[in-house]
Amino acid sequence: MPEQIPIEDLTPMMQQYLETKRQYADCILFYRLGDFYEMFFEDAQTAARELDLTLTGKACGMEERAPMCGVPYHAVESYLTKLVSKGYKVAIGEQLEDPKQAKGLVKRDVVRIVTPGTNLNLQSLEESKNNYLLSIAFTPTKIGISVADVTTGDYYLTEVEDLKKLNDEVMKYEPSEIICNEAFLVSGFQVEELREKYLSISLAKAKRLENLIDEFLEIAKYNLTNITLQYSEINLTRLLEQLVYEFRPVLEKKGLTCRLTAPEDMMLKCDADKLQRVFDNLLRNAWAYSYEGTQISIEVRESGDHVELRFSNHGGTIPAEKLERIFEQFYRLDPERGTEGSGLGLAIAKQIVTLHKGEITALSREGLTVFAVTLPIPCGSPAL
Ligand SMILES: Nc1ncnc2c1ncn2[C@@H]1O[C@H](COP(=O)(O)OP(=O)(O)OP(=O)(O)O)[C@@H](O)[C@H]1O
Ligand SMILES: [Mg+2]
Repeated sequence: MPEQIPIEDLTPMMQQYLETKRQYADCILFYRLGDFYEMFFEDAQTAARELDLTLTGKACGMEERAPMCGVPYHAVESYLTKLVSKGYKVAIGEQLEDPKQAKGLVKRDVVRIVTPGTNLNLQSLEESKNNYLLSIAFTPTKIGISVADVTTGDYYLTEVEDLKKLNDEVMKYEPSEIICNEAFLVSGFQVEELREKYLSISLAKAKRLENLIDEFLEIAKYNLTNITLQYSEINLTRLLEQLVYEFRPVLEKKGLTCRLTAPEDMMLKCDADKLQRVFDNLLRNAWAYSYEGTQISIEVRESGDHVELRFSNHGGTIPAEKLERIFEQFYRLDPERGTEGSGLGLAIAKQIVTLHKGEITALSREGLTVFAVTLPIPCGSPAL
């Protein structure tokens, strides 16, 4: 902002602009000039960067031209949405009279302020989610909360006694924007902490979606009927040793140990990558669903024309009637707990084992759960 320039030296339009900007200093000011909304000075630099616009200049009475950029008025909504989604507040300064009829400078003023919680552009909003604006009125005895979704008309009011309960309410509504009174700002509520919490929830959700997409792709891959297994002769004992080794750090965090019992250098003809996916999921489940401080065991037994692998762990018992269902896609015993699993791991494992002409079954009794994978030797047929 050209603070060092005497305001009288500027053109009348620029004086009007700066006067409006002074009142909306925390916003990017979209200033209507004919068919465009123009931005000047720092606002222009920010908008040019964030919206990929060309930065130009406008003569405004100063020696140097004022940095300027603009967007056509008919396309303004998409630009507003972009800025708001990046956390900016935008003030729209409109022409309040017809420029053709105006005597002298056209009157302009801010007619709308767009923020994340007041954005009415439906295309920009997630359909499945409310767009809440939450406001907090902090008093020494009570905290008033009101929540509005201006796109649907939903409105709620409540009162809580302390900051912990306020935190719960904020987490419940996941507002796009929060406004508060000054007393709240000095209340000691850790806004940064809340931001961190928000971020970690978003991250966990994104991670879960990413896993889901990965697993979907994998399911789609294995559902192809003419899938061919890439057979090779592998050292099954080594593969399992490696797996246990890689899991050790996460197991340790939960105080778990893993004991592998297998014949020395047990060789097997199979699709190593795909079988590894099966073993990985079984061990991951054993880790996820084990009680802390217990032992997981993996036993490999060769008998005649087949090899059997048993993954056992100590945790909650899976009810007998659910033992078949856990191999179904998306089936989870306890969907409320945690956000990690998608209920696809065992479905994928079953498909891979079946492709190898093998079998996978589960047993669970008195806190001991055992998954048994039986594979024929030689496993499946390379002609598959
Ligand atoms: N070792 C185990 N002990 C107890 N329950 C288990 C065990 N393994 C699986 N389950 C139950 O079976 C359900 C399905 O397991 P599956 O591996 O298919 O999915 P998931 O672990 O929930 O998610 P992901 O797709 O990430 O593997 C689990 O949600 C869990 O309830
Ligand atoms: Mg799993």
